[in-house]
Amino acid sequence: MDNAIILNFKTYEESTGDKALRLARICDDVARETGANIIVVPQVADIYRISGEVSIPVYAQHIDNIGYGSNTGHVLAESVKSSGAKGSLLNHSEMRLKLADIEASVERLRALGMTSIVCTNNINTTRAAASLNPDFVAIEPPELIGTGVSVSRARPEIVSGSVDIVKEINPKVRVLCGAGITEGEDVRRALELGTCGVLLASGVVKAKDPRAVLMDLIKGLE
Ligand code: G3P
Repeated sequence: MDNAIILNFKTYEESTGDKALRLARICDDVARETGANIIVVPQVADIYRISGEVSIPVYAQHIDNIGYGSNTGHVLAESVKSSGAKGSLLNHSEMRLKLADIEASVERLRALGMTSIVCTNNINTTRAAASLNPDFVAIEPPELIGTGVSVSRARPEIVSGSVDIVKEINPKVRVLCGAGITEGEDVRRALELGTCGVLLASGVVKAKDPRAVLMDLIKGLE
């Protein structure tokens, strides 16, 4: 996969329901115009309405370690796949999971031909996540999430340390970083540190002009 900008819609008002579709369309337009690899990660309830309207990949924010059956209220990987999702985040710092469930969910996604991105909070958890063989790990120090202070500038050692440990444990796994990313320079530094892209939310979702922010972020991919 080319270097990517992955936009987590979280549960912000600006990225819920019809507004989620509007934001996904902006991402789709920017991706088409620039050729950049942009992935959108809306709430489960918005996946279906978005996936039919855009060409860029749509991922889920979470799936549960369950199969078909009696699991009221859970998120079934088969269901998000049939709604059009091509992958899922797992273990986001706002949705932490048990190690055994992360491993099983990575396997569930792989069996369905879907991409897994396991989020981690430090180098030790990155090491553990890499051993579970996901497609990606995304290092996101929770204290920087939503601050506008970029992980790639404020904590470069945690990003490069994650890249190094993943190379040692499981070189097939690719590394992303996130937290506080707001501009192209943050993306450029993230790539310099050995990642293949960024995971971000508020910098775009809460922006007055999300399109302008996306265009700037993409400059960092060049
Ligand atoms: O999943 C991305 C996220 O946790 C980072 O959030 O708002 O700091 O870009 P933000």
